[in-house]
Amino acid sequence: MTKPPLWPAHLHHFCLETPQINAVVPWYETHLEMVPKRLDDGSVWLSGRQRNIVFWPSADKGLGYVAYALTDASQLARFDAEMRAKGVSRPDIQSSLFADGQVAIADTDGKCFIFGVPVKPETDTLDRLPGRLQHLGICTTDMDRLIDFFTRTVGFRASDIVKNDDGAVSACFLRSDREHHDLALFAASSSRFDHQCYETTCWNDIRDWGDHFADQRTQIEWGAARHGAGNNLFIFVRDPDGNPVEMSAELETRDFESPPGEWKTEPRTLNLWGDAWTRD
Ligand SMILES: [Fe+2]
Repeated sequence: MTKPPLWPAHLHHFCLETPQINAVVPWYETHLEMVPKRLDDGSVWLSGRQRNIVFWPSADKGLGYVAYALTDASQLARFDAEMRAKGVSRPDIQSSLFADGQVAIADTDGKCFIFGVPVKPETDTLDRLPGRLQHLGICTTDMDRLIDFFTRTVGFRASDIVKNDDGAVSACFLRSDREHHDLALFAASSSRFDHQCYETTCWNDIRDWGDHFADQRTQIEWGAARHGAGNNLFIFVRDPDGNPVEMSAELETRDFESPPGEWKTEPRTLNLWGDAWTRD
């Protein structure tokens, strides 16, 4: 089976729009131990060794863009050529964290995805509290169209698909390397950002994050628990804008050729240990 130009890619950073940047930035400084840097365009880049977010001041909260790192300029050129050949919509947007030649595309809901090579070399050196930015979740009102776009056009592979009794897909977990998912899609009443997730090294890291959040007097809102799809351990907190922040461990891996698994829409699929969050 021939791998598409997207392979391998991994989530590198993302941009969130926020109406309260003066509250959000200090939260990520203290809670996720990230260092802020104001960029020339008025946005704020928060970074750790293995996690990066860009916050953009805005009247409303929302998702600015999602950015995936490819291996080098050669892979990026092949991906660029494929997106051009397929006639994918190309928004005029760039990330300061990627080198020249980056490729921005719009998905079928109009959300921007940028693919590029990071300006700053990536590191395997762990942060004091390990948590590598690993996946995002987004909500959509047209799941079938979005799955088709990301799998057939962009080159993601579906790892697990969650279906209602009537066959409608309620969630789909997509991967662009061996990790079970680096993009999760959820059916909902609106197209929007859902959550961000940081992969730790082990269960003990989840404990340490929980203790750290307790020191900040921030309560865990879901978990500790284990997802069915992906089989990862997790806890969730929320940032000042209400954006869910997930810390994860033990996420499954899959081969490129592995066919998608199928799950029922029920709490067990999202939480083997108990209740699940539902999305409106
Ligand atoms: Fe997640």
